Amino acid sequence: MRIAIGSDHAGFHLKETVKARLAEQGIETIDVGTTGEASVDYPDYAAAVAGKVTSGTVDRGILVCGTGIGMAIAANKVHGIRAALATDLESARLSRTHNDANVLTLGARITPPGLALDIVQLFVDTAFAGGRHQRRIDKISALESGSAPSKQNAE
Ligand code: RB5
Repeated sequence: MRIAIGSDHAGFHLKETVKARLAEQGIETIDVGTTGEASVDYPDYAAAVAGKVTSGTVDRGILVCGTGIGMAIAANKVHGIRAALATDLESARLSRTHNDANVLTLGARITPPGLALDIVQLFVDTAFAGGRHQRRIDKISALESGSAPSKQNAE
C-alpha cells in the first residue's frame, strides 16, 4: 500500500509521527508537506493529497490539521474523495467497512498521538465490507455527478 500524507502547521508534528510509524511498517508514503511550523493554509495540502488519491498515484491519503475538520471539508470537495475524520477507534474502523473512506483526517489538537497511531492502523488494515454499503457509495457518487440517487433498497 502507498499513502499520501499531508498537514498544515498545526498537524505537522503528528504528520511526522504517523509517517515514521508507516515507514517502520514498510508502507511507502508520499509527503506533500508542510515541512515545519510556519503557518500555512490547510486546503492546499488537502488538495495535494486528494489529487494523488484520485489520480491513483496512491491507494489512500492521510491529512492532519488542528481539528481534522478543515482537512475533511476541503478534501471532500474533490470528486472521488471520501474523507473521514476519526477521533476514536470505532469511527476509524467503520469509515473503512461502511464508507470505504479513501482519506483519513486527524486532529492534532484533539487526538493524542498514541490514539492517532491506533486510528491510522485501523484505517490501513481494515477492508471495505461492500454489499449494501457499495450501493450507498454508488449513491454518493451519483450525488457528486449531480444526479439525485433513487430512494430505494433500505436495509
Ligand atoms: C489552524 O489554526 C487550524 O484552523 C487548522 O489546523 C484546522 O484545525 C482547521 O480545521
